[in-house]
Amino acid sequence: METLTIRRPDDWHVHLRDGAVLEGVLPYTARQFARAIIMPNLSPPMTDCAGVAAYRARIMAALPAGMDFTPLMTLYLTDGTDPDEVERGFAGGVFVAAKLYPAHATTGSAHGVTDVANIRAVLERMAAIGMPLLVHGEVTDAHVDIFDREAVFIERTLAPLVRDLPALKVVFEHVTTEEAVRFVTCAGPNVAATITPQHLHINRNAMLVGGIRPHMYCLPVAKREQHRLALRKAATSGSAKFFLGTDSAPHAVGAKEAACGCAGIFNAPFAIESYADVFEEEGALDKFEAFASLNGPAFYGLSVNEATVTLEKAPQPVPASIDANGTSIVPFHAGDTLGWRLRL
Ligand code: DOR
Ligand code: ZN
Repeated sequence: METLTIRRPDDWHVHLRDGAVLEGVLPYTARQFARAIIMPNLSPPMTDCAGVAAYRARIMAALPAGMDFTPLMTLYLTDGTDPDEVERGFAGGVFVAAKLYPAHATTGSAHGVTDVANIRAVLERMAAIGMPLLVHGEVTDAHVDIFDREAVFIERTLAPLVRDLPALKVVFEHVTTEEAVRFVTCAGPNVAATITPQHLHINRNAMLVGGIRPHMYCLPVAKREQHRLALRKAATSGSAKFFLGTDSAPHAVGAKEAACGCAGIFNAPFAIESYADVFEEEGALDKFEAFASLNGPAFYGLSVNEATVTLEKAPQPVPASIDANGTSIVPFHAGDTLGWRLRL
């Protein structure tokens, strides 16, 4: 049997939610990943040290006994974030990064930043202390087409920000376009990006051809095929600037299959298997460990995991739906069979 052994991977972008759903989804992430960057877009969002520390405690309480998993927490930036609070939490190990959601860009972003000028002092402090900024890179201007919102964000917001604050470490989260790949590739070493499994597997046709498919809808929305191909090239290139971030974002089936369905794809159950299929298809399994297990820790200044995991070339069926502690959620690849299986 063909096998692939790599250092245990980390997920550099995941939504775990809270309460019963947190308990239901956390084991899927912890099964595969040693660490994960936990998104702070709860309701209400995690905007201070006390809130983030309490959320971390709830995650640890929800972790099944015997599972080895470390949540890496993030702070949710608002127009009113205090630079001293940011420094206090980072220095004290409460959180490792802060997340910039442009206000109203996506799920749970209503309290986000209305103009990056409003958090200039926070960003300067973060640059000074070496704390990474994690960016949801889409403009929210109603006049900009939803498929163009990432590219326009680069022009209007991200490029000026990186130019003005070159010392700031920036992770351009869940990139979806060739423009984003080009921007990150050409930027200095302080700029990196995460890439999700769905943006490597699907283009916008998957969402819209033959009927509208709400379980293929996330933000940033999947783009044209040329963009998917650029993302696959970047992920499998071996460049240290690109690393694994699932953006697994669970929503109850009823919240997805609705007149106004929520954005978010729940890919946590078989994320590592999903990525492995992409790397095999691209003939780049030799680059898989860098993307999944080495590049992320290097960017964040953390050590790589000592443990290893082994993937086997064997069919991995994906169920049509998953019961997350009483909430039914449709996973990415529902009803399909993936080609790699994580050996447990
Ligand atoms: O599709 C998405 N879902 N994109 C995001 O940025 C947020 C996420 C969520 O929290 O559901
Ligand atoms: Zn996300």
